[in-house]
Amino acid sequence: MGISVGLVGLGQFGRQFVQLYGQHPEVDCLALCDVDPLRLATAAREHGITECYASLDALCRSDIDAVVLITQPWLHWEQAMQALEAGKHVYSAVPAVYGNEGDVLLERCDQLVQAVRRSGTVYMLGETTLYRRETEYCRQRALAGGFGALTYGECEYWHDMNSPSANLYEVYRNRWGANWGPDKRGCIPMHYPTHATSSMVEIMGAHMTSVSALGYEKPDEDWFIPGTLWNNRFGNEVALYRMSNGAIVRHAELRRVGHPERESFRLFGTKASFVSDPSGVRWTDRSGWKELELDEPREALPAALASNLGGHGGSHAYLVHAFVRACITGRHPRANVWQAMRYLAPGIVAHQSALRDGEVLPVPDWGDAPEGR
Ligand SMILES: NC(=O)c1ccc[n+]([C@@H]2O[C@H](COP(=O)([O-])OP(=O)(O)OC[C@H]3O[C@@H](n4cnc5c(N)ncnc54)[C@H](O)[C@@H]3O)[C@@H](O)[C@H]2O)c1
Repeated sequence: MGISVGLVGLGQFGRQFVQLYGQHPEVDCLALCDVDPLRLATAAREHGITECYASLDALCRSDIDAVVLITQPWLHWEQAMQALEAGKHVYSAVPAVYGNEGDVLLERCDQLVQAVRRSGTVYMLGETTLYRRETEYCRQRALAGGFGALTYGECEYWHDMNSPSANLYEVYRNRWGANWGPDKRGCIPMHYPTHATSSMVEIMGAHMTSVSALGYEKPDEDWFIPGTLWNNRFGNEVALYRMSNGAIVRHAELRRVGHPERESFRLFGTKASFVSDPSGVRWTDRSGWKELELDEPREALPAALASNLGGHGGSHAYLVHAFVRACITGRHPRANVWQAMRYLAPGIVAHQSALRDGEVLPVPDWGDAPEGR
């Protein structure tokens, strides 16, 4: 027997998941939900879906098993708490917790972990980087000892505000919709760290324990300015972490950069290293390097999903499958809430460090997912 899923949020990103959830053979029923009636009606018509909800409240009152949250980032935490409280399995788009005040966010991280513990249901973060081919390749090589000891990593999410592929000024204005105003200008790059940090955490099997970070202020800045909701001057933030395995990681969140959008990493071990730049991906050792195709076989997917992996490096189908399997088996997914906090908390503390001009600060950790599930 399969599960029923309610997909909440049919905006730019959420609508990319309707077909994948609808085609999964273990999803018996897919319902759609958006507070915007036009978006809801359009998606329902396009995909021939009849079960529709006008609000998350209504969905939580229904007997739907699992809720997929692909709403605006500042809503994820509150909505996940509500859905867990209602006894639903929860999939959340990144970031799990979002906002402007670091201490408040860390407190919310703690509350989310406690809520998942209490609920006994599944929580999964929909972090696309985890299912990119580069991450999967390096994870396998690390598990097989191919790197030797991992000593140093560099991870990055570079997305210029004026990116021609996804202009961030427009993305942010669209997300606020009717509530948009000049007071909403800005954001905090390090509060959206998981596309970068998750690769390091996942491949090293380690977590960040301390951080020192710096922020860059563009002289003629028009977006990252004080006096807005975000009250942040840094368009670029760069962090240096100590990891629990002794390794060092550099992490760059750049929103002011003359470079195509990029979510990637490099990893260096005592025996071999993985190097990636816009010219290609390479496996290196002391004697030289070889180009990688990254076409190794991966985890088997249901046929309907395997023929259409979706975006972000073909990660979407794997995310959907991982969540559905976790709901069916009751086992914690790879991106469980304990791991999700290890991707997020380092960035939150990195911004606090940048505000103190690089003061070294400890990164909290909520431990591993409990055994037995
Ligand atoms: N690579 C990635 O992992 C990746 C890429 C893009 C976006 N995202 C994440 O996806 C999320 C969505 O981004 P987007 O660009 O699609 O945003 P969007 O603003 O286009 O869409 C959000 C939708 O959620 C709906 N919504 C809000 N509150 C609701 C409620 N209570 N009930 C029902 N519907 C509700 C809105 O009406 C809107 O249609 C963001 O949090 C973003 O961080 C992740």
